[in-house]
Amino acid sequence: MTARLLVFDSGIGGLSVLREIRRKLPSAEIAYVADDAAFPYGDWDAAPLSEHIVALMGRLIERFRPDAVVIACNTASTLVLPPLRALHPIPFIGTVPAIKPAAERSKSHVVGVLATPGTMKRDYTRELIRSFATDCHVRLVGSSELAPLAEAVMRGDAVDDGAIRAEIEPAFIEVEGRRTDTIVLACTHYPFLIDRLEAVAPWPVGWIDPAEAIARRVLSVLSLTAEPAGSPMVEGQAFLTSGKPWAPAQLRLLAQFGLSGSVRA
Ligand code: DGL
Repeated sequence: MTARLLVFDSGIGGLSVLREIRRKLPSAEIAYVADDAAFPYGDWDAAPLSEHIVALMGRLIERFRPDAVVIACNTASTLVLPPLRALHPIPFIGTVPAIKPAAERSKSHVVGVLATPGTMKRDYTRELIRSFATDCHVRLVGSSELAPLAEAVMRGDAVDDGAIRAEIEPAFIEVEGRRTDTIVLACTHYPFLIDRLEAVAPWPVGWIDPAEAIARRVLSVLSLTAEPAGSPMVEGQAFLTSGKPWAPAQLRLLAQFGLSGSVRA
């Protein structure tokens, strides 16, 4: 059996999650939708963002008829999973800050969370910290710039190291002689910056990207098993809500994940 999946993000950061889904389920039929018309989600107020995503998702589900939807966006998942699940009788797999694994892995018990301002403010995120990281000092950093910088890198634009460093530096702290040793990438765009993050980090840390765990969750929700490595990949399609043309560098990136860039979602 092959699955029909709708993978959704505000931009193309959600491809970091799709990459892991592709590794396990190359035969899945994929529609990837980037809501670039509304990007970045990080600075939106919660109520209008929730309304916007719920309305858009209604149209997308009607059009693509997926077996499941992957919300490959922390800013959206920490807000809209309950209303989406209440409205549509299909599974929604979300992406939320990987605070639990970070707290388990940290030896210094000083953990940084890099996220958008929206994700940083959510009750959902605060609750994750209260439930799973009470023995840690958690520094939540909400950046308006980092996701747009990642989009720029993925479009092939030059991005200054200093600009990236300025966004991540507040996550590197020292508390009673213990330093941040683990940082959660709580925005699906950030794994595409990992080489740059490692290069500009004030000191080495472990970076937590939950994409592989999300892909495992997709399989378990759909009762599927991973396909053998090297299985042929079924070509999927990616859509932009703005109807703008895809940039050449974006098309090359999409091709790596077996996607071709289509017209308006
Ligand atoms: N990729 C999105 C996330 O995981 C956020 C980017 C944005 O601000 O739209 O939170």
